[in-house]
Amino acid sequence: PVNLRGRNFLTLKDFTKEEIQYMLDLSKDLKQKKRMGIKGNMLEGKNIVLLFEKTSTRTRAAFEVAALDEGAHVTFLSNSQMGKKESIKDTARVLGRYYDGIEFRGFKQETVEELAENAGVPVWNGLTDLDHPTQILADFLTVMENVNKPLNKVKFVYVGDGRNNMGNALMIGAAKMGMDFVTISPKELFPKEDLVKEMREVAKESGGSITITDDVNAVENADVIYTDVWVSMGEEDQFEERIKLLKPYQVNMDMIKKTNNPDVIFLHCLPSFHNTDTIVSAEIYEKFGISEMEVTDEVFESKYSKVFDEAENRMHTIKAVMVATIHG
Ligand code: CP
Ligand code: NVA
Repeated sequence: PVNLRGRNFLTLKDFTKEEIQYMLDLSKDLKQKKRMGIKGNMLEGKNIVLLFEKTSTRTRAAFEVAALDEGAHVTFLSNSQMGKKESIKDTARVLGRYYDGIEFRGFKQETVEELAENAGVPVWNGLTDLDHPTQILADFLTVMENVNKPLNKVKFVYVGDGRNNMGNALMIGAAKMGMDFVTISPKELFPKEDLVKEMREVAKESGGSITITDDVNAVENADVIYTDVWVSMGEEDQFEERIKLLKPYQVNMDMIKKTNNPDVIFLHCLPSFHNTDTIVSAEIYEKFGISEMEVTDEVFESKYSKVFDEAENRMHTIKAVMVATIHG
């Protein structure tokens, strides 16, 4: 039997297939309970802190609602002393005295690791430059709900920046669950060799596969097409180069057709630049004379797109992570 009480949640590398499936199944149960209006109490009397170095809509809101739904109290901290006037280690030891769980979103994976080593309470990774494990649970729950196949039969194609946090995190999750995972990106943005090697070993055990290619024809027979922004938080000086590299890798209706699968679904972790309705996308579109980036508005708004189911699932899956690691 799976018991995750007291565990940190820093990367899916640290979890077995059974443990990941357990969190997905728990998410499904919690989602159903919420739909039926049943109030949870598995985090009653607990205190949770949300530490943010980078901006967020979904992750911050999902953690907060999930905690409150189960009876916990939440502190949102985006202006702490950590890393400026106080070391990560000292911050961890202080927060561990007040709180029963710590969420961290920021730049370095080492920061979330150092927090976990010193806090004495579960630490959850809410995104770093290298990984985004809570997002993967939401993505896979959305696949379970919208693709009529077990996860280990799914062909999951990630298109775009192959070496960002999402590219890494999806590859790790897919390898664990035994999916046929494909990264399609320009060679310059292929995922790091050592991660690919490590995940191919994991895929060998789970019955999955990892393919890395710069050929967009590899979308054929995809069950899922996933993309992410071309420029991640902290890389805002790289728009010009990324647009040049990634233009051929835009998710548009031609690419959807190339899958030859009328039931293919489109996913995106969000936020997304699918139109000019944001200050940044409007500026970038004008500056570089383009009208669309990682996904066209047509695909984003199409019947293939399950991005808002996916966004909702952030809340249910994050709730499962907190319940599993605090309540057990
Ligand atoms: N997908 C995601 O992590 O969104 P936020 O950056 O809004 O939290
Ligand atoms: N790769 C994106 C993911 C946002 C959820 C970023 O890091 O900005």
